[in-house]
Amino acid sequence: MQKKTFNPQFKTRLTQLAEKINTTLKEIISTTSCPPQLKESMQYSLLAGGKRIRPILCLSWGKMLGLEEEKILPFACGLEFIHTYSLIHDDLPAMDNDDLRRGKPTNHKIYGEGMAILAGDALLTQSFELMLSTPLPPSYVLAATLEVSKAAGPKGMVGGQVLDLSLENQEDIQLNQIQEMHTLKTGALLTVSCLSGALLAQSKKEDAKALERAKTYGENFGLAFQIVDDILDLVGDEKTLGKPVGSDLKQGKSTYPSLIGLEKSYELAYKSIDRALLALASYQGEEKDFLVDIAKYIVARIN
Ligand code: IPE
Ligand code: IPE
Ligand code: MG
Ligand code: MG
Ligand code: MG
Repeated sequence: MQKKTFNPQFKTRLTQLAEKINTTLKEIISTTSCPPQLKESMQYSLLAGGKRIRPILCLSWGKMLGLEEEKILPFACGLEFIHTYSLIHDDLPAMDNDDLRRGKPTNHKIYGEGMAILAGDALLTQSFELMLSTPLPPSYVLAATLEVSKAAGPKGMVGGQVLDLSLENQEDIQLNQIQEMHTLKTGALLTVSCLSGALLAQSKKEDAKALERAKTYGENFGLAFQIVDDILDLVGDEKTLGKPVGSDLKQGKSTYPSLIGLEKSYELAYKSIDRALLALASYQGEEKDFLVDIAKYIVARIN
């Protein structure tokens, strides 16, 4: 069992980071000039709340490796743009057909399917403008943005969403098929959130080992994250989650609990978080402690 109580510094830092990210997201979207109905739809989903885990991971890995947070805030927000686009599209009737997200009606319920698709497209495209405008030497910015584009695209998140659709209502599914789907649909973006922070930090100090560690941490964090998401879809509560429970069952989704049961799913999530923590073993200091705690915090949601 992972601990459920966290030291006050962790909660303070988590809130501070989320607030910084929220302020930056607001600034970015308010200065984006585009048709007002598009802006409203983008803003609606982007500013509806959300844990901001992906930008937080990017900022924290960057900071642990010596980079100033402020320099990469817009880059980190680009990751949240991509994530929010993926949620808008994930909720569409043609995909998971969900009505509630981040405690509010889903984007298409308010703005219609056409606008929801376009708001997603716009968020995805604008994320690249944000990332490529990072005020660091271009070779590092390009390396980080290249990795994000790979992780978000056909070889990553989009590919994983396709596997998710193709595994709906299927029999004889193997654990490795679910693992592959999770690795791609959720793990890829979480991994690159850590890796991109580490890649941008190479502009301060080249450190190939740090890149490997960020990747290992992110991959294991990502797997645990989606297992937890699947568990919460069964045992969570709609009000806390801000999204419907039971959606996976309704849509005939293949999930860890549907294949191996709740108990084994809990076990795998904890094991995966332990592997993520191992990747931090050679670091010390406040930022390392934060990265340890945020990993534990993710699984503590199911305790
Ligand atoms: C939900 O992501 C979708 C998955 C990839 C499991 P989050 O749980 O990070 O959602 P928000 O951003 O906090 O709303
Ligand atoms: C979503 O997985 C993964 C994405 C890339 C958006 P889910 O479909 O399980 O996410 P939720 O449960 O709707 O947030
Ligand atoms: Mg889905
Ligand atoms: Mg969904
Ligand atoms: Mg889910």
